[in-house]
Amino acid sequence: MILHYVCNIVRFKKWKILMLIGVCALVSRVNVILQSLYPSITQLTELPKCPACYGVSACHDIHKIDLIWDDINAIISHLFGVKNVFFGTYNQTKVVLKKLAHSSELEAFDITLCDILHLGYPCSVFIPLDRYTAQFYDLIRKAITSDFSKDDTSRLRLCPTLSHLDDLFYNVHLNNKHINPTQYLINLWTLVSINPEPLILQILPAENGWPVPKYYGACGRIIVEEYVGLPLADYYDKSWIQRIKIASSLLNAAYMFTFKDKNFGFYLTDVSADNIAVDNENVAKFIDLENIIIVDKNVSQEDEPKGWQKIHKNTMHFDFPNLNCFSYSAEDICNHYLSDHNYYAICQLLLNAENQNPFFGEFLHDIPTNIEQQYPDIQYLLRQCAIPDSKNSRIFFGQQLKILLDTILKEYLNVMQHEIS
Ligand SMILES: Nc1ncnc2c1ncn2[C@@H]1O[C@H](COP(=O)(O)OP(=O)(O)OP(=O)(O)O)[C@@H](O)[C@H]1O
Ligand SMILES: *[C@@H]1O[C@H](CO)[C@@H](O)[C@H](O)[C@H]1NC(C)=O
Ligand SMILES: *[C@@H]1O[C@H](CO)[C@@H](O)[C@H](O)[C@H]1NC(C)=O
Ligand SMILES: [Mg+2]
Repeated sequence: MILHYVCNIVRFKKWKILMLIGVCALVSRVNVILQSLYPSITQLTELPKCPACYGVSACHDIHKIDLIWDDINAIISHLFGVKNVFFGTYNQTKVVLKKLAHSSELEAFDITLCDILHLGYPCSVFIPLDRYTAQFYDLIRKAITSDFSKDDTSRLRLCPTLSHLDDLFYNVHLNNKHINPTQYLINLWTLVSINPEPLILQILPAENGWPVPKYYGACGRIIVEEYVGLPLADYYDKSWIQRIKIASSLLNAAYMFTFKDKNFGFYLTDVSADNIAVDNENVAKFIDLENIIIVDKNVSQEDEPKGWQKIHKNTMHFDFPNLNCFSYSAEDICNHYLSDHNYYAICQLLLNAENQNPFFGEFLHDIPTNIEQQYPDIQYLLRQCAIPDSKNSRIFFGQQLKILLDTILKEYLNVMQHEIS
């Protein structure tokens, strides 16, 4: 009797039970959907992939970072794994988390790794790795050696020889001296294969005045760096005085990457208004350091390439006068102790802003007429730095332009001060 009653209820309420089950299923789904929409830091780090990861130096604090999801772009970015750049706050300062590559590139890397270990994909790397130490050392050297026959813009190159590789990595070695050597080697190989940005951020620390974000460390397949500010692309319609300040800092960056280190020249090969950010003091910093050519300035006589002592001039503007494009020859940069490449990249960016966005004029557009009258050289210097006449030295004109911009800034500040007092 009671049983019958229960059955009746069940039969009667069948649709309700079905609905309940449906709702439960949906709720659990929603959870899954939400989890993939808003992954936790732990999901992002993919810690089990270590030592085939970027390191663990930031793992201790990474859970104190609050990810910012106010931005639909962030969600899209995560879903499609296109940018894989996330923003967060740590101790009230804004930080950037980077997976350093698109999801497909990371997968390709994992497949290569399993291949090297003679395992099927997906493979776990918890195997006697010490056996492979020598192999990873070779792999690192191979990844950094430039192969001009392959037309990859890729990544970190040290040229013309690798003889001072350990000098270049001095800071990186120092920061990682407590790590198991084999693990460290695999971390290094992972970075030179996927994206050397964290290595560059350690070789050229922001703390020493290099125009790059501060590096806070790595945890698994995530690195944490300082949030600099909005990209340069957002500054094309700011006041002319602000743009002059930024332009001056860009020319200073070209100087630093080329000359500041007496042993190595650093040539950025992916300079664009999206890959530069401007801090709250109007100083430009380079935020995408994935593609870089490092020239060893101290090469022994027998290793010197032909024409080494001559300054390399990028003359792509003669070859493609109408194309307005950013092009260079890695081989040419590598075969000279000094190149005007950084000045080419920066002045081209300042002059031909149309490159970045057809709706803006050049970065130094709309300079007030009285300033242009007082300093009539400004356009000439800019042009000679970007597309110099054949006899002219781009580096010289870039430096003259910087001096002129700084003079204008100083004058302007003086006038402002007078007006206030
Ligand atoms: N340190 C930073 N400070 C401020 N903004 C940043 C920082 N790092 C990255 N960004 C922002 O995130 C965007 C993407 O970063 P990044 O260039 O490193 O990624 P990416 O995937 O290499 O892009 P791409 O390969 O398409 O150039 C930048 O254009 C910039 O707007
Ligand atoms: C947080 O920031 C404050 C000041 O900004 C600093 O004094 C403090 O040491 C920081 N704490 C940590 C854990 O970094
Ligand atoms: C140049 O390299 C040689 C050989 O590696 C080294 O002995 C010398 O100290 C280096 N010179 C400078 C200025 O660093
Ligand atoms: Mg970029």
